[in-house]
Amino acid sequence: MSVGIFDSGLGGLTVLDAVTKRLPEVPFVYFGDNAHTPYGVRTSDDIFGLTTRSVERMWEEGCDLVILACNTASAAALRRMQESWVPHDKRVLGVFVPLIEALTERQWGDNSPPREVAVKHVALFATPTTVASRAFQRELAFRAIGVDVEAQACGGVVDAIEEGDMILAEALVRSHVEALKRKMPSPEAAILGCTHYPLMEEVFQEALGPEVAVYSQARLVADSLSDYLTRHPAMIGTGTRPAFLTTGNPRKVSDRATQFLRRRIEFTAA
Ligand code: DGL
Repeated sequence: MSVGIFDSGLGGLTVLDAVTKRLPEVPFVYFGDNAHTPYGVRTSDDIFGLTTRSVERMWEEGCDLVILACNTASAAALRRMQESWVPHDKRVLGVFVPLIEALTERQWGDNSPPREVAVKHVALFATPTTVASRAFQRELAFRAIGVDVEAQACGGVVDAIEEGDMILAEALVRSHVEALKRKMPSPEAAILGCTHYPLMEEVFQEALGPEVAVYSQARLVADSLSDYLTRHPAMIGTGTRPAFLTTGNPRKVSDRATQFLRRRIEFTAA
């Protein structure tokens, strides 16, 4: 029984960490497409091709359910995958919906019509491709009315984090928050709409100010996955071993992952 966690690189480790803590009995297979990161500046077709190739590799590891713990892949490829690509006995889920359900104070999987919600001004920080897709606004519109979303494309942050240059990442986060505040001076909530950004959560919170509620995906995805597996226990696949797979250089990726998670992580070549 294993469940796949996919990301374009290392950012999904924030989700992996949360789901492992929430569901310690499930062996997770993590797949980082580090050779092709960042996805955030690629075309939708390109992201569809890379994501489907990676997910097929996870089917081979015995995962029947794969979480796209990558907002960019969720935004650019998930709908097309679900509509025309995922085999009937497999599932691929994204990370937007749990976040939006939390923001709009819904139960997991509540598909009732959109309604007015408490939060009115929301800042979205995400990659350029995610922002351009408007997938977040589309999913939000299915669930809430009257919410003003200001999106800020955070160019460069993922590259800096993947390279381990946290000083550059911090400077970029501060300048993206400033740019957002020029467009929306007083957001009530901020969405960290990229799996890499929780690694910079303190910087986002400090730059935004204590009055802004920062929503970070990892814990929300873990809660919603736990609920999903309770409702669909058959979706835990046949795999029995946890694994960390990368299309990048396994040694370099293992070292960075170990630095991020503060425990030894060993990646092998995908
Ligand atoms: N971590 C991915 C996300 O959540 C994208 C990073 C990238 O490859 O640009 O959006």
